[in-house]
Amino acid sequence: MPIEFAERIRRIPAYPVAGGYAEEERLVRLASNESPYPPLGAVREAIARALDTLNRYPDPANSLLRQRLSDRYGVPVSRIAIGNGSCDILLAAGEALLEPGAELVYAWPSFSVYPHLAAASGARAVTVPLDARERHDLQAMLREITVATRLVLVCNPNNPTSTAVPIAEIAGFLAEVPRHACVIVDEAYCEFNTLDDADTSLDLLAHHPNLILLRTFSKVHGLCGLRVGFALCGSDELPHALDQVRQPFFCNALAQAAALEALAHQYAVEDRVIRTVAERGSVEERLRALGLEPADSQANFCWFHLGQERDEQEIMRGLRERGVLVRGGSALGSDTPALRATYGLPRENTRFLDALAEVL
Ligand SMILES: Cc1ncc(COP(=O)(O)O)c(C=O)c1O
Repeated sequence: MPIEFAERIRRIPAYPVAGGYAEEERLVRLASNESPYPPLGAVREAIARALDTLNRYPDPANSLLRQRLSDRYGVPVSRIAIGNGSCDILLAAGEALLEPGAELVYAWPSFSVYPHLAAASGARAVTVPLDARERHDLQAMLREITVATRLVLVCNPNNPTSTAVPIAEIAGFLAEVPRHACVIVDEAYCEFNTLDDADTSLDLLAHHPNLILLRTFSKVHGLCGLRVGFALCGSDELPHALDQVRQPFFCNALAQAAALEALAHQYAVEDRVIRTVAERGSVEERLRALGLEPADSQANFCWFHLGQERDEQEIMRGLRERGVLVRGGSALGSDTPALRATYGLPRENTRFLDALAEVL
C-alpha cells in the first residue's frame, strides 16, 4: 500500500532550483541572484566567534538582531520578525493568514515561492498579469481584492522581471487596500533600486497596520548561504502571528551573529550597490548591442525575451557548455522564451555576454 500523504502534497509546486551544485568546475553562477562578493572579513570573524557558542541554542527571540534592526530602520522591536531567510517569513505568513475559502492576490510572473502559499493552505490564488513593461499592474491587482482576500504580495523590484514601481505608486495602492487584507511588499532587492531610496517605503509602516516590508540578508549583504531575513511590520500582531506558526529557534546562531555584524557595515552595502549598478548599465548596453531588449532592471539581475523563433533550452545548453549558468524564463512563469541572469563580477559578466553572443 502506498503511503498516504496530505492532499496538499499533490498541490504544492516544486521550487525551480538552479543547477550546478554538485559540480566542481569553475562555473559562472548567474542563476540565483546571489551576490558575487564573499562575506566581509568582519562578518567572517563574527561567525568564527559564534562557533564557540554552538553547544547552546540560539536566542529564540533574536533579541539583539531585532534591536539593531530597530535602531537601523526606526521600527519598534515589537514590529520586527526574523526568519530563516525571508522565504521562511513568506511561508509563515501563508500559514498564519490563509486557509480554504481565503484568497491570495499576486502578480505573475513573480517570485516562484508565491504559488506555494495558496497550494499549501488550500486558499485560492488570484494572479494578475504584469503590465506591458513587465511591472506590477497595481490598479488591476486592486480590482481583484475582495472580502475573502487575506494576503496581497507585491514584489518590488520584481523577480524575475527585474522591474520596480515607484514607492509613491505603492503608497497610493496601499491607501485603497482594505485593512482586513495583509500586504507584503517583498523588498529582497530594494537596495539596488535607483527609482527610490531603500528607506522610502519605511514611512508607509506608520500608516498601514496591515503592511509587511520583507527584506533579507541574502542579496546585498551576500549571506544567502546562512539563511536570514526579516520583516518590518505595521503592527505588533503580525510578528506575533508569524512566530506562532513556526518552530522555535528558526534562525541559527551563526546567522544571527553574521547579520548583526553585517548591519554595522553600511558602507559595504553602498559600495556593492554602486558596483552592481555600474555592471547593470554595461550589461544592458551589451545586451542591446546583441539586438536584445532587457527590461528596465532595478535589481541585481537582468531579464530579457529571446524572441519566439529562439529555443530557450538550446540557448541555456549553449551557455552551460561554455560554463555559464543562468535561468530560463519558462521555469519562472514566462510564456515566451526569456532569460534571467544575475550581474556577477565584471569578468563573469564578460564571460556570460561573450558566451551569449556565440550562442545566439
Ligand atoms: C523576490 C524574492 N523574495 C524573497 C527571496 C528569498 O530570499 P531569502 O529566503 O534568501 O531571504 C528571494 C530569493 O531569491 C526573492 O527573489
